[in-house]
Amino acid sequence: MSAVFPMYTIRPVLNVRRTMVETDVRLSTGYTMPTLGLGVYMNDECAEACKVALQNDYRMIDSARFYENEAQVGVGIRGSGVKREDIFITSKVFHTDFTYDHTKAAVKDSIANLGYSYYDLYLTHSAVGGTAARLAAYKALLDAKADGLIRSVGVSNYSAKHIEEIREAGLEMPAVNQIELHPFCQQKPIVEYCNKHNIVVQAYSPLLRGALDNPIIQKLAKKYSKDGAQILIRWSLQRGFVPLPKSSQPQRIISNNLVFNWNIEPMDMAKLDALDRGKEGAVTWNPVDVD
Ligand SMILES: NC(=O)c1ccc[n+]([C@@H]2O[C@H](COP(=O)([O-])OP(=O)(O)OC[C@H]3O[C@@H](n4cnc5c(N)ncnc54)[C@H](OP(=O)(O)O)[C@@H]3O)[C@@H](O)[C@H]2O)c1
Repeated sequence: MSAVFPMYTIRPVLNVRRTMVETDVRLSTGYTMPTLGLGVYMNDECAEACKVALQNDYRMIDSARFYENEAQVGVGIRGSGVKREDIFITSKVFHTDFTYDHTKAAVKDSIANLGYSYYDLYLTHSAVGGTAARLAAYKALLDAKADGLIRSVGVSNYSAKHIEEIREAGLEMPAVNQIELHPFCQQKPIVEYCNKHNIVVQAYSPLLRGALDNPIIQKLAKKYSKDGAQILIRWSLQRGFVPLPKSSQPQRIISNNLVFNWNIEPMDMAKLDALDRGKEGAVTWNPVDVD
């Protein structure tokens, strides 16, 4: 016999303060950027991942020349049925191209690879190469922006001292700094500097490259009926970062984006915050200290 439910049920009020997380953030250039994106590093054939992501509410893809998959991103976008203007696409120039002319040529080549006329965001991939080289590359990106090839210019793996060079040179400040960022490596001085200068912080390797077996992460996953990846992504969002989780598996791509209608309570955020091990906690190259 089927149960009879009243037409209106009163839901129990949860004694939990909801932490709202925006789905978009405004950059210093005036453009809006989604607060979560798909990473495609080490996914040479990423067209399918991009397509699945875009068909499941992602609106940002993070690529780079170094990943050699900019063309695959374009294929994925065209296959998704989502309009180019509704998607935020990033690429990066690697330090081996840090001269003015090489960086300008790199941007043009990235655009040809992608098969669309502009990038939403283009970053210097790291600060490797020394002051003169990184400023030359950065100026080339600003000029490509003036030419309409890039909408916003940013940097990656920069610490405050590298961004100060840009400020001291009187150049437009970066809209974004993309750095390794997760509970084990919270890069607090860089984040503080970026917050002060209205630079949005993107979090790369937010899933610890898949090493999710930490007992605290697993305990919280159980408590919230989520998986470890969702706990880390939600932590990043609640801290005001823009996480870029990478997956090549459709089910994971989908579940990694199911992080907007629940929240981690402050006492559990504190448990994740307490995992910080500074630079020791980095799981990738994290070259923020180069000269
Ligand atoms: N600017 C830079 O210098 C820099 C450096 C590194 C990364 N990045 C960017 O940031 C993105 C993300 O970083 P990342 O690729 O280093 O690492 P990540 O996103 O922290 O981790 C990716 C790993 O986690 C696995 N994974 C994904 N979802 C999962 C889930 N739900 N459960 C369990 N495992 C899961 C993936 O495997 P499957 O693919 O098999 O799911 C992959 O092995 C990159 O793709 C790239 O766009 C930038």
